[in-house]
Amino acid sequence: MADIIDGRKIGDEVVATVKQATAELVAKTGVTPGLAVVIVGEDPASQVYVSSKSKKAKECGFHSAQHTLPADTPQDVLLSLIAGLNVDPAIHGILVQLPLPAHIDAGAVIQSISPDKDVDGFHFVNVGKLGTGETATAFVPCTPAGSMLLIERVRGKDLSGLTAVVVGRSNIVGKPMANLLLAANCTVTIAHSRTRDIAALARTADILVAAVGRPEMIKGDWVKPGATVVDVGINRIDAPEKGEGKTRLVGDVDFATASLHAGAITPVPGGVGPMTIAMLMANTLVSACRAAGVAAPKF
Ligand code: GUN
Repeated sequence: MADIIDGRKIGDEVVATVKQATAELVAKTGVTPGLAVVIVGEDPASQVYVSSKSKKAKECGFHSAQHTLPADTPQDVLLSLIAGLNVDPAIHGILVQLPLPAHIDAGAVIQSISPDKDVDGFHFVNVGKLGTGETATAFVPCTPAGSMLLIERVRGKDLSGLTAVVVGRSNIVGKPMANLLLAANCTVTIAHSRTRDIAALARTADILVAAVGRPEMIKGDWVKPGATVVDVGINRIDAPEKGEGKTRLVGDVDFATASLHAGAITPVPGGVGPMTIAMLMANTLVSACRAAGVAAPKF
């Protein structure tokens, strides 16, 4: 039976470091980290994510500003809000919750965020820095950064000689995850919907990261014995066994069978999810430290 990687505990440790460093930053420089979270529309899942981000920011001692805009907000109104936040000295991190309504060009919005405040790590400047190994000055997307911390807890910081397979090629998770694993000296393959035999490829992985958004797709016999399995998926599925109309959250990995083969595995919920928010706090603190000209803690 695999070790269960406790993302809540490790996320809490990151948040504790952020809180302490924030108190020191305020005492030393008078600078309070500021995070602006922008949401357009009423998508219920996005609203839950956004309010937990704003709440955690307050818990860290940040200045937290939430901007909730109606679903029919014109793109130029959103762009001018961001332009204002880009030059607001009280704001060090800007997060625009995705997905955006269909009439808004999400790419244009993301690229309008100052790279210095892009705590999501989605701007081309930050994507390029990660891709070229400039991890010391890049903002790294929060979910892969948090996943990497979990992997390091199991395997250490240098992953030389290990084989990693990332299932999923999104810009938010799959691609940056692969770059982080490469920077840590793994031999990395990205698998996706057109990959021929994903099961056979997955079985070569010492580190298997699942980020496809398909409930319980990765089965136990896809997992190499002793592998470290990181499940990024959060899927809500029907759970008639809990009663009529009930649902439950599952990952992209079939936890019951995968945990029989893995050496260590993240659960859903309680694995990668809490790390994503924790790393958003870490990125915002780092941004504030850079603005104040003081060294930031390492995560
Ligand atoms: N929607 C789902 N994940 C994310 C994320 O990491 N950042 C933003 N901005 N939106 C998201």
